Amino acid sequence: MRKNIVAGNWKMNKTLQEGLALATELNEALAGETQKCDVVIGVPFIHLASAVAAVDANKVGVAAQNCANKESGAYTGEVSAAMVKSTGAGYIILGHSERREYYGETSAILNDKVALTLANGLTPIYCCGEALDVRNANEQNVYVKNQLEETVFNLSAEDFSKIVIAYEPIWAIGTGVTASTEQAQDMLAFIRTIIAEKFGAVIAENTSILYGGSCNAKNAPELFAQPDIDGGLIGGASLKVADFKAIIDAF
Ligand code: 13P
Repeated sequence: MRKNIVAGNWKMNKTLQEGLALATELNEALAGETQKCDVVIGVPFIHLASAVAAVDANKVGVAAQNCANKESGAYTGEVSAAMVKSTGAGYIILGHSERREYYGETSAILNDKVALTLANGLTPIYCCGEALDVRNANEQNVYVKNQLEETVFNLSAEDFSKIVIAYEPIWAIGTGVTASTEQAQDMLAFIRTIIAEKFGAVIAENTSILYGGSCNAKNAPELFAQPDIDGGLIGGASLKVADFKAIIDAF
């Protein structure tokens, strides 16, 4: 059975002290509650070890937002998947549109990052999604299919079954414009269909597919009620515990 997941992506926000306070407050807010979904926080590298120490691992998973496409060595400024693993984090967000757009991450680079993430026993939260011009041309399905075919569809069925997919239309990220429930459901159903074609119905049924892009406490209940939407990847609304908790409670 696939899992419902609400994952926060803090992006480049919060000092170490602020991040520690946020993780601690979230952990307190979830204490003693029965959660209907897995909760993950995607934090900057420098926060990873502190965030892991601040939360109850049974309640909150911790994700990095990126990792190097190399195993180790002379790559100044990079952080490897093994280093992420050593902090106790369990996930790495990969292929976010901001990394593809601003840091030139190609499918080839992402293939190496996904492989290293899996090799270290971590779960990739693999992002895909189209820009507005692609959506306006109604070519979003072909575009997303191509993103997946160039990357995670090259994995073995066994490895693919370990990943989480997040569909984040670029035009909905940080804009306040959420994809309509129908647009989000249609795309996630499409992604599930092509997973089934590639890896079979069982793996498709068991893959958690998240929606991201201006997801908030108001729109989350309707989004999460859709048959193919298994949760959300949350940017802005993950930076305040009350907002993030309300999204978690949408399940
Ligand atoms: P917002 O929720 O701020 O639109 O960001 C979505 C996102 O990019 C999460 O990875």
